[in-house]
Amino acid sequence: MTVSEGRREIPPAANLNSIKLSRLRMAATALAALAAGGRSRLAETKTFFVGALEALRRRVFSGDGWSNAKFEEPRSEISTFLVSCRRIFWALALFSGLSNLLMLNGSFFMLQVYDRVLPGHSVPTLVALLVLATMLYLLQGGLDLVRNRISVRIGRYLDERLGLRVYDALVRLPLKTRGDGDGLQPLRDLDQVRSFLSSGGPTALFDLPWMPIYLAICFLFHFWIGVTALAGGVVLVGLTVLTDARTRGPAKASSRHAVLRNALAAEGRRNAEVLQAMGMRRQAALRWQDVNQKYLAAHETSSDIASGLGSVSKTFRSLLQSLVLSVGAYLVINQEATAGIIIASSILTARALAPVEIAIANWKGFIAARQSSERLDHLLKLLPRQEEPLALPQPTGALAVENLYVAAPGSEKPLLSNVSFSMQSGEAVGVIGPSGAGKSTLARALVGVWPHVRGKIKLDNAVLEHWSSESLGRHIGYLPQDIELFDGSIALNIARLDLARFDANATAAAILDAAKAAGVHDLILSLPDGYHTRVGEGGMALSSGQRQRIGLARAFYGNPFLVVLDEPTSNLDSEGEEALTEAILSVRRRGGIAVVVSHRPKALEGVSHVLVVSDGNVQSFGPREEVLTRVLHPAVPLRVVAEGKGGAQWKAN
Ligand SMILES: Nc1ncnc2c1ncn2[C@@H]1O[C@H](COP(=O)(O)OP(=O)(O)OP(=O)(O)O)[C@@H](O)[C@H]1O
Ligand SMILES: [Mg+2]
Repeated sequence: MTVSEGRREIPPAANLNSIKLSRLRMAATALAALAAGGRSRLAETKTFFVGALEALRRRVFSGDGWSNAKFEEPRSEISTFLVSCRRIFWALALFSGLSNLLMLNGSFFMLQVYDRVLPGHSVPTLVALLVLATMLYLLQGGLDLVRNRISVRIGRYLDERLGLRVYDALVRLPLKTRGDGDGLQPLRDLDQVRSFLSSGGPTALFDLPWMPIYLAICFLFHFWIGVTALAGGVVLVGLTVLTDARTRGPAKASSRHAVLRNALAAEGRRNAEVLQAMGMRRQAALRWQDVNQKYLAAHETSSDIASGLGSVSKTFRSLLQSLVLSVGAYLVINQEATAGIIIASSILTARALAPVEIAIANWKGFIAARQSSERLDHLLKLLPRQEEPLALPQPTGALAVENLYVAAPGSEKPLLSNVSFSMQSGEAVGVIGPSGAGKSTLARALVGVWPHVRGKIKLDNAVLEHWSSESLGRHIGYLPQDIELFDGSIALNIARLDLARFDANATAAAILDAAKAAGVHDLILSLPDGYHTRVGEGGMALSSGQRQRIGLARAFYGNPFLVVLDEPTSNLDSEGEEALTEAILSVRRRGGIAVVVSHRPKALEGVSHVLVVSDGNVQSFGPREEVLTRVLHPAVPLRVVAEGKGGAQWKAN
């Protein structure tokens, strides 16, 4: 049977005409009803639609359309972000809707060519149709372009809104929990979510609601064409759900192993010298390889499952095209449809199933983005945004520690128990004790780095928690035991990364003062670029002693009230030690308080008090001479055992 024969038997596009007619009829009825109802009815309808739309909007974008009991938990920051983008999502949905309508263009064009142009041999109709179709294609192309651009910008907006927050959480995380992996996972997670939002992934979501509409049109063409398309859709959705269920476990395992693998690689880089000098490279490589194998195995499993099911669905999609054509051909043979309708419906079926195909194509990205956003949510909930406490006046009087218990991040076991002591302005305390006694733990608690489980640390009667880290930081100078500098110039490091805090002259003067206080000014001037010398990553371009003295200058920058120095003399020569004593005395003279942790008695020359820590407890606290005499007494568990480079060293009995 030829096309024209088929057309002769059945009026052209009969079904299509009936659709148009029935729609027109419906619209006319609705209009008539509205007109008859009058203005009040119109207002009622409007209110109803506005209400329904608002409820739908809330339901889709914020989830608060359901009973509130379900959402009592505070909304995560990522959902808050998504809610804040709701207008953009509405716009995207609108664009998707228009674009989906325009996608019918191809099918209808083909239908008209087969059913009108060919039988009528009408070239002018063909040209008119082609011009119209071209215009619609161009419009659709433009819409898609705008839609993609909006998607990319949503990704960027996410980064702008959450980037700083995630970086802040990333830096605070090691102070809250035991480190896990290389610690950079949150940034990778943010990248993952952003690239998913920027890619076509979420747009596929807006295409999904169009699937039933296309299917309905398939049904209107012919019942059996609709049934075939629907069955195809069900199989494809089933395959997608199956892919999700089967790949979830392996995908999680692979990302867990990836984190471990990166951590091992970073550790190897950090310890390059040790690995080389003691021939440990091979062993380190084997350790890394072990984790890498596990990562590869998990990755392979998840990719195998995804690609296996992916190729099943691809084969099925090709088959489905031919199935629809076959059903159409069968109907034409039985004179139930026109040839135009089978081709148009074959295109339409492909369109109806396109969202599922796009969803399958984006599935891996979607799973990864979902896992990343769950991890980010967890992180951001663990480290909520810090409220900026009321600004407190500069501390000038005293430091008091009351019944302090301190535990390491992520642990409950106190490393320091029941520590109490107090200092007045102008005093300095030397903290001594054997290795592992808890001296550094005390130093970290005093500067608010490690949270204390019990007890109080007060500056002028205000407990540390009443200060924000930024405002407290201005009154604190801290030299950690393992000094790392930031990549940049020496001046930038001493000025605590903020060369623009005061006006340039004041900053320069403060940097010079700090450098002089730490006795490092001449040393800096002897370097090739003076204060502009770049220190390299972590301060690699400097010697340990130079690093320590620049770290000291950083601690003294801005004349902070409380200066806490953890082993400030461990890398210093005798000249450096003398400079340190002078620096401690100058802190005392200007009314500050200094806490100096040291193994070396020489470092304690400038202090007024001594605190002896042993096994996490305070053994002794009092004026320097008094405590030192007691410590040097044989009955006390600490004694001088050796003369080191910088003088005698403290050691436990
Ligand atoms: N991050 C950590 N997590 C868990 N325990 C820790 C951590 N850091 C230190 N500790 C434990 O806390 C105890 C005290 O450590 P701390 O660093 O305060 O000792 P220290 O007195 O400063 O020793 P040193 O003189 O060697 O510097 C040690 O037993 C150590 O094992
Ligand atoms: Mg220590």
